[in-house]
Amino acid sequence: MKKQILIVTLSIAISTACILLILNIMERKSEAKYLGTRVQPISELEDNPAVWGVNYPLQYEDYLKTVDQIRTRYGGSEAVERERSPEDPREVVAQDKLKIDERFITMWAGYAFSKDFREERGHAYMLQDQLYTERQKVGQPGTCINCHASTYVGMVKLGQGDLEKGFHALNKLPYVQAAQHVDHPVSCIDCHNPKDMALRVTRPAFMKGIKEFKKYQGVANYDVNTMASRQEMRTHVCAQCHVEYYFKGKDKTLTYPWTKGLEADNILAYYNEIGFSDWAHKLTKANVLKAQHPEFEMFSQGIHAQSGVSCVDCHMPYKKVGAAKITDHHVNSPMLKIGRSCRSCHNVSEEMLLKRVNNIQDKNHEMKDIVFDALVKFIKKLENNPSHPQIDKLRGIQRDAQFLFDFAEAENSNGFHAPQESARILLKSLHLIKKGEELL
Ligand code: HEC
Ligand code: HEC
Ligand code: HEC
Ligand code: HEC
Ligand code: HEC
Repeated sequence: MKKQILIVTLSIAISTACILLILNIMERKSEAKYLGTRVQPISELEDNPAVWGVNYPLQYEDYLKTVDQIRTRYGGSEAVERERSPEDPREVVAQDKLKIDERFITMWAGYAFSKDFREERGHAYMLQDQLYTERQKVGQPGTCINCHASTYVGMVKLGQGDLEKGFHALNKLPYVQAAQHVDHPVSCIDCHNPKDMALRVTRPAFMKGIKEFKKYQGVANYDVNTMASRQEMRTHVCAQCHVEYYFKGKDKTLTYPWTKGLEADNILAYYNEIGFSDWAHKLTKANVLKAQHPEFEMFSQGIHAQSGVSCVDCHMPYKKVGAAKITDHHVNSPMLKIGRSCRSCHNVSEEMLLKRVNNIQDKNHEMKDIVFDALVKFIKKLENNPSHPQIDKLRGIQRDAQFLFDFAEAENSNGFHAPQESARILLKSLHLIKKGEELL
């Protein structure tokens, strides 16, 4: 009797194991079909996305869709046709923000941004938009290219195998020469290790910036590629570029100003301490700063970052293709895919979610509009009072108020990433302008 039970149990165990094995093989096969089989090994120096696309056709197909230009209420981008010219062959560009709001021209008087500033568009355009912007006319350094191309291979080659060395060599070159070391917009190799497809950070400026920030938080010798969690990496790969930056010293080293923290005030304190300024304002002679796309810094102050949500959760949500679940490589506005971007966590209708975003963005716009008016008025008053006894102090106030306003303005989610933080910075800017008005 005991022997019989043993045989029955054993045969059940064996057949269960067989079924599990078959199921596992079937699952792997369908995964392989959808995720791509490794039909060919990818070299450590392969920056051509089409070559990676042979192994991973679904991700490549979506990656190519970043050419799409679709407008949302405040974001996305609109295709604007233009006459091509010998110096600029583009037939389609994004909207001209200087035309939409002329106050930018006063705020940036004397700086290249007051000549050409457009809405951002998809990753596919990053290289050509940088090549042909009017802002190139002032002779930019190679440093610009760090965030507008697939630079990993160019840097490794320039540094003869040393990424960090190549980074410094690239920064120092004039832009036109640096551009000869890159061939593609951001590509697979900039976020993935070709050996196992694991996420990795390839930008030395971010490695250094996040190390400095962690040091400020009390963590010594932080190495993002070995110490960050997978979920953190799903934000860090984007934060390689979507951050505030400046060019340090005569070598024009790309630097992220995070040694005192990530908030706008911390960054301003850093710039004030080292005495850095981007240019002297044409109307007031104040030494001023330009804030640029601080998505990572702002997002880090919001409820989603604090809840452990990553950039990729909203901007590259999972999608189903047949039986497989893949990461959507069509990076764009989450408002164009609310169902997948938000409803994975929020169990409310798309309509309701859209309403919530509109509500945050409308209010953010109302606040920005008030502060922008006050700032421009203040700048004009300073222009008309060049010999005021307190002029140095007044110029300092313009510098600080303008940076805080610009920080909230340059952040591309129109307040969504961190509504409270955006409101706080705007209020602080307005408070400074009020102090300036009193002094005048
Ligand atoms: C909780 C969801 C969520 C997370 C997380 C998130 N974003 Fe966003 N992001 C949005 C929404 C919503 C908008 C507004 C889109 C619009 O107005 O069309 C936006 C806008 C943007 C834009 C402008 C896009 C456009 O089409 O105008 C950029 C760039 C951006 N986010 C980058 C990032 C980066 C980088 C991170 C991580 C540091 C991040 N986002 C994290 C939801 C998110
Ligand atoms: C730290 C990364 C980084 C560096 C360095 C950088 N950019 Fe960008 N750039 C971005 C990001 C992110 C966007 C998209 C978000 C935006 O437009 O605010 C962008 C957008 C742009 C655009 C399109 C929108 C516009 O403003 O008209 C142009 C043109 C541009 N950059 C030119 C330049 C030039 C010129 C330099 C060098 C002076 C430069 N970039 C350096 C990250 C960077
Ligand atoms: C190598 C630098 C780089 C990296 C890495 C990068 N971006 Fe961008 N991103 C840019 C630049 C530059 C632009 C603007 C291109 C232009 O306007 O020509 C941009 C544009 C965008 C836009 C606007 C798209 C649209 O259709 O309007 C979104 C959204 C965005 N990025 C989100 C992300 C997210 C999310 C990640 C991480 C998964 C990421 N980016 C990683 C540089 C980068
Ligand atoms: C801006 C960064 C970025 C770029 C560029 C990028 N990816 Fe990804 N990729 C990601 C992220 C983030 C994930 C999700 C990884 C995770 O959750 O661990 C991912 C996941 C994947 C996966 C795993 C399966 C899946 O869909 O989740 C494959 C395969 C892949 N990418 C292929 C590619 C290919 C091929 C290219 C170039 C055509 C590419 N990626 C370009 C960020 C990027
Ligand atoms: C990975 C999960 C996740 C995703 C994806 C996500 N959220 Fe959230 N969201 C949260 C969490 C967690 C909170 C914090 C509140 C809570 O605990 O319920 C939150 C809070 C919010 C809030 C309240 C904000 C505040 O300041 O109080 C809004 C509005 C919101 N989400 C909208 C969105 C929208 C719109 C999207 C898509 C673009 C989105 N969320 C995507 C998890 C997510």
